[in-house]
Amino acid sequence: MYRLLRPLLFALSSEAAHAAALTVLRGLGVLPWVRPAHTETVHLLGLEFPNRIGLAAGFDKNAAAVVGLARLGFGFVEVGTVTPRPQPGNPRPRLFRLVEDRALINRMGFNSAGIEPVAANLVRIRRGERGVHIPIGVPVGINIGKNRATPLSDAAADYLACFSALHSVADYVVVNLSSPNTPGLRDLQAAATARALIAQLAAARDRLAAGKPLLVKVAPDLAPADLEATVAAALEAGANGFVAVNTTLARPASLGSRRAMEAGGLSGRPLFPLALDTVRRLRSFVGDAPAVIGVGGISSSADARALLDAGADLVQVYTALVYQGPGLVRRLAREVSRWAPATATRSGVADARDLA
Ligand code: FNR
Repeated sequence: MYRLLRPLLFALSSEAAHAAALTVLRGLGVLPWVRPAHTETVHLLGLEFPNRIGLAAGFDKNAAAVVGLARLGFGFVEVGTVTPRPQPGNPRPRLFRLVEDRALINRMGFNSAGIEPVAANLVRIRRGERGVHIPIGVPVGINIGKNRATPLSDAAADYLACFSALHSVADYVVVNLSSPNTPGLRDLQAAATARALIAQLAAARDRLAAGKPLLVKVAPDLAPADLEATVAAALEAGANGFVAVNTTLARPASLGSRRAMEAGGLSGRPLFPLALDTVRRLRSFVGDAPAVIGVGGISSSADARALLDAGADLVQVYTALVYQGPGLVRRLAREVSRWAPATATRSGVADARDLA
């Protein structure tokens, strides 16, 4: 079916195709007889996941289609990145298909409706609309960031504003320190800076929402020693886990598409080796307790299994959906559940804190 639809979608600009997909998914959310895909029961971070395949941040930035995405079969959905105030992001075009490479380059730059509409969308979904409550059925994470106009020295205030406004509608919160498209954002990964920022967020968490899992999303472009310093600092400051990885600024020599040199972050198949390497190193640094969500270039259940084998507890996808369509989600959930990874369950928050 998607084989027929894809040429039509690819005839549109990437952003128009994305908007069309979100509209269809919003509609799917109102069909109560389409159920989330429950292929296994995974306990992590004090939450229960019906399968290990999640939607990565950046697809549903404003929580417009969360129920529809759960109906597609995702075991969890990460919305955002959300910035405190609305902002338009970078000028278009800012999203490019590298079809030959099964990849995308994006320089969206945190286009966000801001915290209020996102909170309102999630409150409406969780309460039910017009008396009809269709449960989401899967954990929803919220990925938070800073506005472009906010100086880096005030970044903590933006992350705190997002956390305060959104924690009550989030099952977990991800601190995005790794988008390549907001100038200077990745500098927040420097160990001392990350430690101070995460400590403030963890204090807010302990005050406002004790036990709410706080994860940090890292870039695939950190040198091994820097990754180690960043994750150690984040754990010391109270983080419960990591999402690895965001898009890369690298341009592997294998890229064959004419768009390969567009500015922005590269995702999809060419990112997979970097994601695998980062997850493996990350798990070896942090030991067993902290949660690790692996993401980057997964396009088959073998890829998902390789990331789980390397130490991820759950995985996420984005770019492969563009190339393979929505059937990918249930297929991955089913195939991955047939294989029991060594890391079946982690008790999550309490253990991660003990370790920190
Ligand atoms: C992203 N990604 C992303 N990540 C994030 O933390 N916040 C964001 O707002 C976005 N936005 C975004 C937009 C677009 C168009 C893409 C393609 C990606 C990164 C995403 O969550 C994921 O980390 C990477 O795309 C790698 O996974 P895939 O796409 O290779 O499966």
